[in-house]
Amino acid sequence: MNDGDGTPAEAGQGRRFGPLGTVLVIIPTYNEAENIKAIVARVREAVPEAHVLVADDNSPDGTGKLADELAAADDHVQVLHRKGKEGLGAAYLAGFRWGLEHGYGVLVEMDADGSHQPEELPRLLTALKGADLVLGSRWVPGGRVVNWPRSREIISRGGSMYSRLALDLPLRDITGGYRAFRAETLEGLGLEEVASQGYCFQVDLARRAIKAGYHVVEVPITFVEREHGDSKMSRDILVEALWRVTTWGVGERVGKVLGRDRRPGVPDRPAAKADKSTQASDRNA
Ligand code: GDD
Ligand code: MN
Repeated sequence: MNDGDGTPAEAGQGRRFGPLGTVLVIIPTYNEAENIKAIVARVREAVPEAHVLVADDNSPDGTGKLADELAAADDHVQVLHRKGKEGLGAAYLAGFRWGLEHGYGVLVEMDADGSHQPEELPRLLTALKGADLVLGSRWVPGGRVVNWPRSREIISRGGSMYSRLALDLPLRDITGGYRAFRAETLEGLGLEEVASQGYCFQVDLARRAIKAGYHVVEVPITFVEREHGDSKMSRDILVEALWRVTTWGVGERVGKVLGRDRRPGVPDRPAAKADKSTQASDRNA
């Protein structure tokens, strides 16, 4: 187990974490007509008490309509229709806002294409009982990827390593998108200032959580590459990520030299910082 705030999981004397509350699994979609029904069914089966919010960017392939059909048949499924493709980050921000307004205690990020296995969600939620944020991680012991081309693995591992070094983050999988947040954690991240649109949204949130002093835990997952449809990864998404991560890293270093502690728009949270949890989370739970 790799504790994201650098404290060994075994270190004992934990902070006391409140109960989790109701879980909302947010699934952003763009052209996932071949995947949406299966993924929602798997979530409903794996964690029956959880609710699902599909955040669809007006997919031309009719994903939104299929999601509406699921919602009509199941009161645990909702759909957020967005006007057009604005990126993963914008879809999640809208989904988080919706979830927080509706009083959910836990907000989960999950891809629609089956890469994030709903059957592993109970393990993430168990870990969240002793954490502020849980990251499903491909790059900690026990984590792995299945059917990913070598090129994608190199980009992903490289992206995490670059982010780790540039931003000084004690995390292994910084770009991954299978995560469980406590509502209070999201409320403390300064989401209204987040401008990241593509996959660097994930780096942005991880960095905000660490800098704000939250207890972040990585739990190993098996990431299975999609069988249907296409990845939305693009050159623009990579360029945005490289540009933003580099800018943040340079900004933090300049801030240090100038004697200013430049945090990413996050107010200091002395309570969380002074009281970092060391609660263990059992990956086998
Ligand atoms: N609403 C909306 N709008 N959804 C989107 C958009 C968008 O602009 N772009 C992508 N998505 C949705 C997809 O439909 C899918 O459900 C999920 O976001 C992930 O997109 P993929 O295209 O399948 O991503 P990937 O497999 O290449 O990405 C993997 O790597 C990323 C970077 O590490 C996953 O691990 C992601 O979680 C991760 O962020
Ligand atoms: Mn995918």
